[in-house]
Amino acid sequence: MGTDRMKKVCIVGASGKLGQYMVRHALERGYEVVGVCRERSVPKLAAFEGRMSVVPGPTNDPEVIRRAVSGCDGVLTVLVPWGVQQYASGTAQAVLDHARPDARLVFSCGWHITRDGKDRYSRMFTLGIRVAAVLGRLVRAVEIDDQVEACRRVFASGARWTVVRGSSLEEGESQGLPVWSRHVGDPVLAGNLTRRVDFALFMVEALTDDTLVQEAPAIVGCRTPAALAHTGGPRDHAQPGRTEGARFRPGRTCRFRSDRAE
Ligand SMILES: NC(=O)c1ccc[n+]([C@@H]2O[C@H](COP(=O)([O-])OP(=O)(O)OC[C@H]3O[C@@H](n4cnc5c(N)ncnc54)[C@H](OP(=O)(O)O)[C@@H]3O)[C@@H](O)[C@H]2O)c1
Repeated sequence: MGTDRMKKVCIVGASGKLGQYMVRHALERGYEVVGVCRERSVPKLAAFEGRMSVVPGPTNDPEVIRRAVSGCDGVLTVLVPWGVQQYASGTAQAVLDHARPDARLVFSCGWHITRDGKDRYSRMFTLGIRVAAVLGRLVRAVEIDDQVEACRRVFASGARWTVVRGSSLEEGESQGLPVWSRHVGDPVLAGNLTRRVDFALFMVEALTDDTLVQEAPAIVGCRTPAALAHTGGPRDHAQPGRTEGARFRPGRTCRFRSDRAE
């Protein structure tokens, strides 16, 4: 989809850290922005007052989502495993059910989500996810299995989706568009660190990148050592806001040779 056809976007989970960065990137692109967040979190969006509209409510409420995505060309959804109320799968399902059939749908999650089972995780990573899943369920605070279910439903849908799988995150100024690969375990992803602002940048860029339709890119910061090694070393930062990926394929995100042959 060309940038000119992306006019109105909905950001589901707009009040969170990733959501607020996405609001910022979307407004910078001149998009009309509708945000969805829990009623009590609306004040977190005060900085954007007058520049976006907000539909308050739980993101897994189909009626809230139906109203919010109406007329939207794209929907950016933060999938979170909080609570034991099928929040992530309910949110994903509501978006799948109510977004326009031709809308670009971009969902966020972590590396632990696998689309085809070909991701290769370290023992530490797998152990960490298992412990978080068990402890989270025990204290009824986190439902990692439900985020897995949410992504399973997205993968099975015929929609124009992208599931962006984030590495470990850190705060800090933008370093540029993250690089991506189809499988966790690919050498380029070894750094396992992305600035949250750049995760958001990737999500918003994906709205107009048709090469990412029905892809589940695992992303990593473009300045991590392995990413730099794969892209041929440090590059100048003369154009703030321009992306590392853009230097390889103008206007497009950058994927790596390691998985191109598939
Ligand atoms: N954190 C990481 O290290 C990490 C790593 C890889 C990928 N990711 C992915 O990145 C995305 C953003 O994650 P984040 O950790 O950076 O968090 P975040 O952007 O701060 O977003 C958290 C979201 O969860 C909502 N939320 C918090 N508590 C909730 C509850 N009890 N019930 C319902 N909603 C609740 C927040 O809404 P309110 O504003 O209403 O509280 C907000 O929309 C997620 O898709 C996550 O899977 C995160």
